[in-house]
Amino acid sequence: MKHAAITGIGAYLPERRLTNADLETMVDTSDEWIRTRTGIGERRLAAEGEATSDLAAAAGVAAIADAGLTVDDIDFLVVGTSSPDHVFPSTASLVQAKLGLTCAGVDVMAACTSFVFALHHATVTIEAGRASTVLVIGADALTRHVDFTDRRTCVLFGDGAGAVVLQAADEPGIMGIDLGSDGTGADVLTIPAGGSAMPCTPERVAEGLHHVRMVGSEVFKFAVRAIPETTERALAASGLTSDDVTWLVPHQANQRILDTVADRLGIAHERVVSHIEWVGNTSSASIPLAVHDLYTSGNLRPGDVLALVGFGAGLTWGAAIVRWTKGPVR
Ligand SMILES: CC(C)(COP(=O)(O)OP(=O)(O)OC[C@H]1O[C@@H](n2cnc3c(N)ncnc32)[C@H](O)[C@@H]1OP(=O)(O)O)[C@@H](O)C(=O)NCCC(=O)NCCS
Repeated sequence: MKHAAITGIGAYLPERRLTNADLETMVDTSDEWIRTRTGIGERRLAAEGEATSDLAAAAGVAAIADAGLTVDDIDFLVVGTSSPDHVFPSTASLVQAKLGLTCAGVDVMAACTSFVFALHHATVTIEAGRASTVLVIGADALTRHVDFTDRRTCVLFGDGAGAVVLQAADEPGIMGIDLGSDGTGADVLTIPAGGSAMPCTPERVAEGLHHVRMVGSEVFKFAVRAIPETTERALAASGLTSDDVTWLVPHQANQRILDTVADRLGIAHERVVSHIEWVGNTSSASIPLAVHDLYTSGNLRPGDVLALVGFGAGLTWGAAIVRWTKGPVR
């Protein structure tokens, strides 16, 4: 059986910044509240006319270049997103056209866990010998679905995209993966209207049912339980323990969640990658963006073990243990 390893990584953040000071002029909130409760200082917003596929394509181009490849080398595309450009066609189809890829592409949707699910999809495709070079993108423009009069949610999210190139390899770069779903928690975090269950009508839009709805405290409790559990399972599947983790890269939703799970796993806080202060919760993009930060900072070295851990609506969760095999920044 072939293994899969990361050979390229790229990122894209839209230029427009929305600071906590900006939000203070929009809703009844404060920089102090947002920083203390979430760790977020600012976030990026997709420009007018800039869609999730644009963010994804920009990150994809960067990842392909970083791998030293061209679009002709990519033989499968997986896009993790929960804010697709349209109900259909898939965002992967649009990214494929924007990049000039000739391979098949598919969307994977597991809310903020989408990147980990997409990585799993790409890994098993390579391991099965069905592809040798897969572009995996996590991209979201969730601010398009946020009610900017609802202070409970509008301070949290930002837009962005991150991508990796996964290639067949002799040694495993992607080691153990653990995934999970529990649909009994579906109501805790949802965009109720806009799908087949509740098509958008003027009445539903007036009620704001097309916006993100979240019971924040329930999501918090779920996250601090699910992240350590899924990480431990993925580590066990890799024959490792938390002592072997060089970098814990959790989905960036709340700094307090990151601190709590680090303590529960017995991982020192300086080993936990956090960029939430600068970009907020970028959903499917947050994990590859955080790995990209680590990579470009020069702190990621061949042989390092990363635990990439997601959680989100569904409810969904998942962890992928990665042995970094790639050289320094090109
Ligand atoms: C959303 C979250 C930051 C809220 O923090 P919290 O400490 O749980 O705060 P609460 O929801 O208990 O609200 C406390 C108070 O702050 C208020 N509040 C909420 N948002 C506020 C804001 N942006 N500014 C000021 N006050 C705010 C609430 O109205 C509440 O006021 P009340 O006590 O008068 O009713 C936190 O629950 C969280 O991060 N949950 C996880 C969310 C998440 O990860 N989502 C993404 C999953 S992928």
